[in-house]
Amino acid sequence: MPLRTIESLGDLEGRRVFVRADLNVPLKDGTITDDGRIRASVPTIERLLGAGAAVIVASHLGRPDGAPDPAYSLAPVATRLGELLGRRVEFAADTVGEAAQRAVAALEPRGVLVLENLRFNAGETAKDAEERAAFASQLAAFADAVVSDGFGVVHRAQASVTDLEGLLPSAAGLLIEREVAVLERLTKSPEAPYTVVLGGSKVSDKLAVIDSLLPKVQTLVVGGGMLFTFLAAQGRPIGASLLEEDMIDAVRGYLAKAETLGVTIQLPTDIVVASRFAADAEHEAVPADAIESSSFGAQGIGLDIGPESAAAFASAITSSKTVFWNGPMGVFEFPAFAAGTKAVAQALADLDRAGGFGVVGGGDSAAAVRGLGFSDEDFGHVSTGGGASLEFLEGKRLPGLIALGWSE
Ligand code: 3PG
Ligand code: MG
Repeated sequence: MPLRTIESLGDLEGRRVFVRADLNVPLKDGTITDDGRIRASVPTIERLLGAGAAVIVASHLGRPDGAPDPAYSLAPVATRLGELLGRRVEFAADTVGEAAQRAVAALEPRGVLVLENLRFNAGETAKDAEERAAFASQLAAFADAVVSDGFGVVHRAQASVTDLEGLLPSAAGLLIEREVAVLERLTKSPEAPYTVVLGGSKVSDKLAVIDSLLPKVQTLVVGGGMLFTFLAAQGRPIGASLLEEDMIDAVRGYLAKAETLGVTIQLPTDIVVASRFAADAEHEAVPADAIESSSFGAQGIGLDIGPESAAAFASAITSSKTVFWNGPMGVFEFPAFAAGTKAVAQALADLDRAGGFGVVGGGDSAAAVRGLGFSDEDFGHVSTGGGASLEFLEGKRLPGLIALGWSE
């Protein structure tokens, strides 16, 4: 069954609609460093306002512990949303308390109100179903209908993501619709050659997705901190680079399975090794099988893929028809170790211009490529959900989508 859409909610003129968005943006000292998720939430809010509704926007930010914590206030997000919408946006200093109740009561037709962080309330993430349901019914009291549009959080069974949707007429917003359409294209009908590029620090985060993708792809490209566990599984010395020792057996299993399936697992052939983990560390590129022969010996830490690998990864990407990418190739936050990630992003942009379909999967990867100077228009699709898109590709049935009528 497809997702219920906004149209299924009928006439929204004069009604109050609760929008569960994912406005969990990166903040540094109270300043938003990447507003991609706020931008992505705008079309749905505008659609609802255009239909005559008043809109109550709610989201989580970070992982506060079920109680108010000023470091995770959505206030700066509400301000930015107002700028993007070009209209006045009210902000309630709590989520369901007196401030929120007053603000909801005062909300004008076609007005926009942002509630304080959902996770300032223990009920949002409670394991106990009754506690979640109680919080969801407090949220439900605010509105006539709910539009769920926080794609980045649909893999979480949380009060505003699943419970609330059962209490009011509910539908998917435009962002969730688009994200699901893209991911279904990847799971159901990816045009071959299909290449998946995985990076990031941990193999353990990617186990399930590697498992389910191996039979579906022609090439799996591996970079980022996780690549060192692959090198270690091949018996190569990796110096002081990141290693998940308890994953070595699983990785050996993938290498063997890939061989049986005729899938190429492409690993870097050279590595940028640094003297220590720091932006200004000394560094040099060495062959991937000679990491400990760099000037830093066994103390050397691999912080990026090398230039030869960056070129090889780029050509694997541009010679594909479909590419999904999740996770940086190196420590891109340090400019000296961003070249690998940049090369992969550039290759995805080149693929897009050549008519292929490239998807950047995930909040963090998306923020990374925007931080490196790319824009969302450079790619086929930039997903707002890292964990959510990976779990979708794993074939998991995501609770936040099930709650909106979705099924395979
Ligand atoms: C994310 O940033 O991955 C989403 O907003 C979900 O957040 P969470 O991992 O804290 O549930
Ligand atoms: Mg995250």
